[in-house]
Amino acid sequence: MPNSPKKPTVIVTRKLPDVVETRMRELFDARLNVDDRPMSNAELVEAVKTADVLVPTVTDRIDRALISQAGDQLRLIANFGTGVDNIDLDTASNRGIIVTNTPGVLTEDTADMTMALILAVPRRLAEATLYMKNPNTEWAGWSPTWMLGHRIYGKRLGIIGMGRIGQAVARRAKAFGLQIHYHNRRRLAEAIEQEFEATYWDSLDQMLARMDIVSVNCPHTPATYHLLSARRLRLLKPDAYIVNTARGEVIDENELARLIEHNTIAGAGLDVFEHEPAVNPKLLQSDRVIALPHLGSATIEGRIDMGEKVIINIKTFIDGHNPPDRVHSAMF
Ligand code: 8YV
Repeated sequence: MPNSPKKPTVIVTRKLPDVVETRMRELFDARLNVDDRPMSNAELVEAVKTADVLVPTVTDRIDRALISQAGDQLRLIANFGTGVDNIDLDTASNRGIIVTNTPGVLTEDTADMTMALILAVPRRLAEATLYMKNPNTEWAGWSPTWMLGHRIYGKRLGIIGMGRIGQAVARRAKAFGLQIHYHNRRRLAEAIEQEFEATYWDSLDQMLARMDIVSVNCPHTPATYHLLSARRLRLLKPDAYIVNTARGEVIDENELARLIEHNTIAGAGLDVFEHEPAVNPKLLQSDRVIALPHLGSATIEGRIDMGEKVIINIKTFIDGHNPPDRVHSAMF
C-alpha cells in the first residue's frame, strides 16, 4: 500500500471556532492553541522554526526579526484576519514565504458595527444604558430636555477608505438618510458613486473640515499610519463625531483623547486602538466615547467563515495552486 503523503504542520496561534479546528485536524497536522493563551515571542520563534504553515491573528507580531528566524520549511503565513499590518510582508516575500488573508467574509459584520457606532455615539446609547443600570442613579422619568443627542438623518458622513467595508458602510448609511462623502486613494467608478450618491474628496483636509461624522475604513499601512494626525484631527468641526472600526494606528490616539478631553470634538466610537490592548485612559473616562474591544468581525458566522477561508488558502497552497487570498505589499 502506498504511503499517504505527510500532512503539513499547521500551527495556529489562537483558539479558533470548534468547527474550524475540527476540519483543520482532519486535513492537517494541526497544532492548535486550545487554551487561547497568546503565544510569547519565544513560542512564536519555535512555531516558525517548526511549522510548514503558520496561522496568526492580529494579536501576533510577525515582524522581520521573527520571520528571519523561520526555518526553510515555513512556506505560508495564512493570516486569520483581513488586515495584515501584523505581518512584515516584504520580509516574508524576500524569504519566499506566501502570505494570505481573509477578505470579504467580515465585510458586512464590520460595516454593521460601524453603523452601530454611527447610531450609538450621537444618540448617547452607552451613556444612557450606564445611567439606567447604575445603582446610584435613579431614573426620574421622561424629560423634554434630558439626555439629548444629535440627529444623524441628513448629516454628512465622510468615509476614509472606500474599499469593501467602506462601501458596505456607505450602503447602510445612505439607507439611514446620511449624505455620503468619501476620500480614497482612487476615485470610485461613476456607477458606484451614483449608487451611493457619493461625493469624492481628493483632499482629505477639505473633507474633514466639513463632515458631521467621519468613519475610518482604510487598512493600516505605512501610508495610513496617523493619517488622522494631530493637525488633521484639529480640522474637524467641534460638533463632529469620529468612528473607527479599522485600525487604531490610523488615528493619533493621544491627540484624539486630548480633543475629547477638551470638548473640541463631539464624541467618538472606537472599536480599535493604537496600542491594543492598551487604551488611552482619557478615552475610557469620557461619556462621549463608546469604546469596544475590537469586535468588528466578532460574530460566530464571521469567525467560522474566516476559518474556512484560512483552510481554503492552506489547502489550495498545499495542493500546488496559488491560494485565492494571496497578498503582496503593493496591494496596500
Ligand atoms: C479580526 C480584523 O478579528 O480582520 C481584521 O482585519 O480587524 C478583525 O476583525 C482580526 O484581525 C483577526 O486577526
